[in-house]
Amino acid sequence: MIASNNNHRDYRDSSDGALTVENLSKVYVSAMGKVVSLRNVSFTVNKGEFVSVVGPSGSGKSTLLNMIGALDRPSSGKVFINGIDIFSLNDSQIATVRNDTLGFIFQSYNLINRTTILKNVEFPGITGGMSDGDRRRRALKLLNFLGIKDKAKYKPSNLSGGQQQRVAIARALMNDPKIILADEPTGNLDTKTGADVFNLLTLLSRKFRRTIIMVTHNPVLAEATDRAIHIRDGSIEKEVVNVERQK
Ligand SMILES: Nc1ncnc2c1ncn2[C@@H]1O[C@H](COP(=O)(O)OP(=O)(O)OP(=O)(O)O)[C@@H](O)[C@H]1O
Ligand SMILES: [Mg+2]
Repeated sequence: MIASNNNHRDYRDSSDGALTVENLSKVYVSAMGKVVSLRNVSFTVNKGEFVSVVGPSGSGKSTLLNMIGALDRPSSGKVFINGIDIFSLNDSQIATVRNDTLGFIFQSYNLINRTTILKNVEFPGITGGMSDGDRRRRALKLLNFLGIKDKAKYKPSNLSGGQQQRVAIARALMNDPKIILADEPTGNLDTKTGADVFNLLTLLSRKFRRTIIMVTHNPVLAEATDRAIHIRDGSIEKEVVNVERQK
């Protein structure tokens, strides 16, 4: 259902959705001084695993996700995606890995408000090099999968928060990413709608074997993922494996 017919490029052909973070550190330097946002963080996420990242505000969760998604460079350390050290690539290769392998979902949806739902979902397919027809067909298929095909011609502001987050999920799935990075995807949603979005992510990991890393402040959701990585002051405090989900 969510497979796409993108042309695959060499350095992701072995792509299986596994991810390793090795001694990752990030120091922000600004006029206010230095902030150590991540300190020597290391872990591996297996293909199809659904991992949550939890921790207090300011503990470095978004920084971690931004490094994994190569939205920003670490001060030191490495991120391997499908065995490839992504920060050893040049900027255009990084952009290709990001576009082809990773899907992003944010708390505030980050939709483009002046255009339609359909165009929002189609957007990553433009840089992904799909034909106009394929792009449209796939976007509609995804909107249908997410139960909001009837909203295709609407603008984001005409939709509820939960619907907008579904659009953002459809957009994240446009290029059939093996890895989905979600930063508080349920943070702006009520409990019921948040649970719906969480169940969708669970389906993507369970049925479609997508690797998911989700930052959340919700302990109930974190406990329901395969493993919760607890971050405090930029370091991993502990990892809690959900034995029920390992069965
Ligand atoms: N661009 C930046 N410049 C300077 N400092 C930054 C920058 N981005 C993040 N920080 C700092 O790094 C630390 C970690 O921030 P981060 O956004 O990763 O936290 P978080 O765990 O995602 O918090 P929240 O739960 O509130 O979203 C904070 O002290 C923050 O102020
Ligand atoms: Mg954050």
